[in-house]
Amino acid sequence: MEGNHVYYRKKRKVKKGVIYALIGLVIVIGLSIAGFNYYKKINSYEYKLAKVGYKENEITTILDKLTDEQVETILNKKYNDLYDDFIKEKYFMFKNLDTYVEYYNDESDGDFSHAVAMVNVQANEDHYEDVKKTDTSKKELLLVNKYNALDENYIPEDIIDISVKYCYGDNEISNEVYQKFISMYNAAKEEDLYLIITSAYRDYNFQKELWDQYADSQGEEWADSVAARPGHSEHQTGLALDIVTYNSNMNDFENSDEFKWLQQNAHKYGFILRYPKDKEDITGYSYESWHYRYVGVDVATEIHELGITFDEYYAYYIADGNKN
Ligand code: DAL
Ligand code: ZN
Repeated sequence: MEGNHVYYRKKRKVKKGVIYALIGLVIVIGLSIAGFNYYKKINSYEYKLAKVGYKENEITTILDKLTDEQVETILNKKYNDLYDDFIKEKYFMFKNLDTYVEYYNDESDGDFSHAVAMVNVQANEDHYEDVKKTDTSKKELLLVNKYNALDENYIPEDIIDISVKYCYGDNEISNEVYQKFISMYNAAKEEDLYLIITSAYRDYNFQKELWDQYADSQGEEWADSVAARPGHSEHQTGLALDIVTYNSNMNDFENSDEFKWLQQNAHKYGFILRYPKDKEDITGYSYESWHYRYVGVDVATEIHELGITFDEYYAYYIADGNKN
């Protein structure tokens, strides 16, 4: 009897020991999970961004649009309540973030899209101040403007004469562009509309004389608003055409049926209106209803649909390599 009693007491003790061990284990596991979750939380971008000062909706935008590397960069900067406004913009480029903010604060016109466009095309800087060499390997997509220039001796490879049938005076153009122009000319003619070229390829010296003449007669500021300085003209690329029609000059071309037709159809032949109305601060030139630039059918169609200038298209889709 005595032996049995001891046996049962020992068994109860063992049982108790197991229960305590299990409870201990549960506590340890629980604490570990809590600790791990806490560690995970304080290392999460949500937590870190909130600590810098970002609100929930701003954090959502940042995490939705930026790569991890870009989020890390944001975390190393002070809180800025304008960042998420820019990050949400369609043509936002991370490398320009602080320049957008700077430009926006200086201009204070309250327009985020405009600030993005201006900075993307470098128009936040003075014209002709920081000029890069045009990347001519981009072929018909090369960019020539007040910040990107061709060498003095750049001459397109496939320049040919334009038949007098299509133009006023002697003119030359890139052969590829010529073929596209002829297709466009024929399509317009079917509707009794006549596209007449007044100027096409112009070499560096021709452009220099033109700009000098304008500057001498009306001053440099005016010359800069209507003509490119030498090296900065699309006419030197052989890809640009000034188009008018019979009984119209450049200034009233925008009122012609030919102009209306070009607005609807030019992109189908690879041409875009290069200096549109109300985009003077982006392109750096007054509105030119007559100046068309060949960029190929695909890009011309995209630009037509997006409703942006070639400068903006180039910055975002070509130079920065974003996909539409
Ligand atoms: N008129 C255009 C801007 C040029 O001179 O190239
Ligand atoms: Zn022109």
